[in-house]
Amino acid sequence: MFPDENGIDGWLRYAPLSSELASQFKRYGNIIALRNDESSPVRTAAKEIQHGLKRILNQEANIGHDLITGSQVEGPATIVIGTVNSFSHAGGDVSHIAQLKEDGFWLHGDDYDNVQILGQNERGALYGAFAFLMLLAQGKQCPSAHVSNPSAPIRWVNQWDNLDGSIERGYAGPSIFFRDMVVQDDLTRVSQYARLMASVGLNGIIVNNVNSHHDLLSPRNLAGLGRIANAMRPWGVRIGVALFFDTPKILGGLSTSDPLDPGVIAFWDKITAQLYQHVPDLIGYLIKANSEGQPGPLTYGRTLADGANMFADALKRHGAGVVVYRAFVYNHHLDESNWKNDRANAAVEYFKDMDSLFEDNVLVQIKYGPIDFQVREPTSPLFAHLRKTPTIIEFQVAQEYLGQQSHVCYLPPLWKTILDFDLRVDGKPSLVRDIVSGERFGWNQSGYAAVVNVGSDSTWLGSHLAMSNLYAYGRYTWDPTSNEVDVIQDWTRLTFSSHSTVVDTVTSISMESWPTYENYTGNLGIQTLCEITKTCHYGPRPDAADGNGWGQWTRADAHAIGMDRTVATGTGYAGQYPVEVAEKFEKVKTTPDDLLLWFHHVPYTHKLKSGKTVIQHFYDAHYEGAANAQTFAPRWKAIQGLIDDSRFQHVLFRLVYQAGHAIVWRDSINEFYKAKCSIPDEQGRVGNYPWRIEAESMDLTGYAVVPITPFEAASGGKAIITTSNDKPGTAKYTVPFESGVYNIAVNYYDHLGGTSQYKLFVGGQLIGEWAGDLSKVLLHDFSDLRDGHSATRITFDTVHVNKGDVIELIGTPDGTELAPIDYVSFLPPGLVD
Ligand code: GCU
Repeated sequence: MFPDENGIDGWLRYAPLSSELASQFKRYGNIIALRNDESSPVRTAAKEIQHGLKRILNQEANIGHDLITGSQVEGPATIVIGTVNSFSHAGGDVSHIAQLKEDGFWLHGDDYDNVQILGQNERGALYGAFAFLMLLAQGKQCPSAHVSNPSAPIRWVNQWDNLDGSIERGYAGPSIFFRDMVVQDDLTRVSQYARLMASVGLNGIIVNNVNSHHDLLSPRNLAGLGRIANAMRPWGVRIGVALFFDTPKILGGLSTSDPLDPGVIAFWDKITAQLYQHVPDLIGYLIKANSEGQPGPLTYGRTLADGANMFADALKRHGAGVVVYRAFVYNHHLDESNWKNDRANAAVEYFKDMDSLFEDNVLVQIKYGPIDFQVREPTSPLFAHLRKTPTIIEFQVAQEYLGQQSHVCYLPPLWKTILDFDLRVDGKPSLVRDIVSGERFGWNQSGYAAVVNVGSDSTWLGSHLAMSNLYAYGRYTWDPTSNEVDVIQDWTRLTFSSHSTVVDTVTSISMESWPTYENYTGNLGIQTLCEITKTCHYGPRPDAADGNGWGQWTRADAHAIGMDRTVATGTGYAGQYPVEVAEKFEKVKTTPDDLLLWFHHVPYTHKLKSGKTVIQHFYDAHYEGAANAQTFAPRWKAIQGLIDDSRFQHVLFRLVYQAGHAIVWRDSINEFYKAKCSIPDEQGRVGNYPWRIEAESMDLTGYAVVPITPFEAASGGKAIITTSNDKPGTAKYTVPFESGVYNIAVNYYDHLGGTSQYKLFVGGQLIGEWAGDLSKVLLHDFSDLRDGHSATRITFDTVHVNKGDVIELIGTPDGTELAPIDYVSFLPPGLVD
């Protein structure tokens, strides 16, 4: 019914309004753009409005440049776009326009439906144009005398793109910026990205990975960066780059990269001058140094301020850029045997005494929590320590620890736990959002960054639903008090449809998604219990947090779990907060349950405020989370036929996959902790799966039983794999269940290294066949092992089964993937095993 869409326009599709709704709008005949040079956002805005009117209302409007003063009362309405100043110079009356902040805009529809879109600057005019269009696309009239100002001047994204075209923590295909160590020739997607960014007020981007490479600054790439800047400038998006600290040594051939060495200073001076030639409006440099193996000033016996100031001076000599120095500095070889050690302490320890030492064009970029984008963390206490040095808060739109876009996880509810948090600096209200806006400490340069990592897939993030986070990120940087339901509903109307079933379905799934994910991946503040020592950060691996120097410890043993971060007996981290907050987190009694294990080491039998024990809460939450994840796909089906089939199926596939992987998570975590503490689930669910047939108990031909490591990543700790890598294996079993209708689920492992093929027969009937090609479909790298990342499930609904039927699974291996199977479940309708 609806033509298929691939997501390339994101929320800027400008779907036509129904003719009834469209008829309520005036005919807009003229667009007056008060500037017309190629790179001007005002010109871009005029063209965008012309395009939007055509799409949404099927109206043709002309673009002109001469202002006709006085309200146009007859004939088609006019839309004027420009800055407040240009409007005034052209003879317009600006006396009624309130003072605007940088990037702010005035949007006004008069009694005759003429529209004024006037920005404080040209970017502001473009933001106003998008605001007008996004209302129009939802069938809403232009407001009158509407003033809109951003909360903070810095509203940037970070891309972790590598020069070779890969993206660190990217889940949507290769880079749109780089390929084969150089900037790509065709930057069409880069302009399209800038358009999406501008539409939600994002005004800057760091285009390359914080783990940077010296070749970024080769002559060819400097010119390439100039082309990227040119592609984004018409959208009001300015670019900056992340630097590799040792570039002077590696690219420059110097003997050192010491920030106080005159040769090093001269090197950066020269590079900076060259970069400004290509990118005159450079936003500046982002620095990751002395972090996770990266060199930095400490490598050369200098302070962090010495390092930051070297770049700051170079930028000052040539332009107006800023140095953004990341606070993510920590030792990843921490000694776990010392209970006082704590990675969470690192940022404050490194930066608290640096506050007055940075140049005035240095900002510190702080991840929202002190560890690393976990499913729940307390606000970083560093926000309370830097008062002179302005800060940028770092979020992640890329769902690195939050399901990598293969699980739905709408992030504003998480962001709000941070932005609305009151740090009570000096006993005064100090909401994080007021600190990063600059208001609390009186800064004029501060704000937001988010690691986004769009890729070249047409969906940008690898999943249509995940795009709500990019849209919401922009909305929150503009107004951190935004209502998360309003935001998802606006996005849904723009992205899919205004049909109430569509809006309600997307809203309810989105609003439940983060708590659901938290429930089945790591609750009570224990963090996302995924594999952290290998690169993938995806599936369950609860033992990976401990036993290494990375410092994401849970300190779980047979009796107790959680990090003691109190001042009295623990690492002292709680004491890094201002006193009122510190006191609250110091005591178990006043620590909220959802952060209990972040701050305290307690027995599994400790009673929570809810009255449940810690361990029973674990079991119950994982069951609740996984059970709710089962409802997403069936609920999504309510919108079939109300949106195009391509996007409907794309999302459906992911929700079904998520439902299966949520069960993998639930069982892994629950089995792991049950084995650890030997306390059974009061409800008898953990370890008891009456509807499962374990593959290892089937009759096997060409298949053999193998143990799985870690044991909890397989039901019963074992699975089967084919005994050869080129011949199929068969697993058979006689159905022991009563005859009836069942949903049949097959749990298997889909890892890298090959694409196995599977067939399932019941009573001689082919029920389904499939391929182990998930990494190609979901666009992120699973592991190359049979583990919690690659464990997955396929389900065949409503199959009629007779007791005594033979079920037969045939797996054909490929490469190193030996058609591994864990178990088969026969689920009576409505039952989740
Ligand atoms: C995380 C992430 C890394 C990244 C790092 C950073 O640890 O897994 O890939 O480089 O954060 O923010 O610098």
